[in-house]
Amino acid sequence: MKTSKTLLSLAVASFLVACGGGGESSTPAAETAQPAAAPATQTAAAPAAAPTTGGPDGAAEYLVCSACHQANGQGLPGAFPPLAGSEVVTGEPSIPIAIILKGLQGELTVKGQKYNGVMASWAQLSDAQIAAILTYERSSWGNAGSAVTAEQVAKVRAATASRTTPWTWAEVSKAKLN
Ligand code: HEC
Repeated sequence: MKTSKTLLSLAVASFLVACGGGGESSTPAAETAQPAAAPATQTAAAPAAAPTTGGPDGAAEYLVCSACHQANGQGLPGAFPPLAGSEVVTGEPSIPIAIILKGLQGELTVKGQKYNGVMASWAQLSDAQIAAILTYERSSWGNAGSAVTAEQVAKVRAATASRTTPWTWAEVSKAKLN
């Protein structure tokens, strides 16, 4: 438990750093996110960013996740699972949508490695923000998943409305999500 507390404050600290100037700094934040994604994913990231005209920018919105899952999506071994190359992220979209909406806890295997942590709910993000983040994650760092729409997120949000605690992997992988 001590370890996870330390990791949590580490995550919160890097989150605060990521948020930097706060307030009106959403453009500079987006610029800082760009160089990290660019080298690995130049071809994959571009198509994902394009369709979100007028909507939230997935790369910029991803900053709230990168505190733990890291800018390059690699996570931190033993603590935060990777999103790059994750079969969860690129698989059936309703599962990562449900994880973002409610959080996740308990034992989980990603890319052959076991994790046993807690991720809190991000239900405060809008359907469009979650769709943009997932679309970004599914098309970055070598991932090749289809785009996710705000409508898909809205369906999962409605289907899981009564749930108030983070999922376990056993639950979310079998739940009726839409
Ligand atoms: C405070 C740290 C933290 C933040 C911030 C965070 N996560 Fe997580 N995330 C975790 C942990 C820890 C797990 C594994 C939980 C477990 O072991 O059951 C996880 C698991 C996941 C998983 C399933 C496993 C995988 O690697 O594919 C996805 C998908 C995911 N997170 C997406 C996100 C997204 C999207 C965001 C931003 C909206 C986010 N996370 C923000 C800590 C975090």
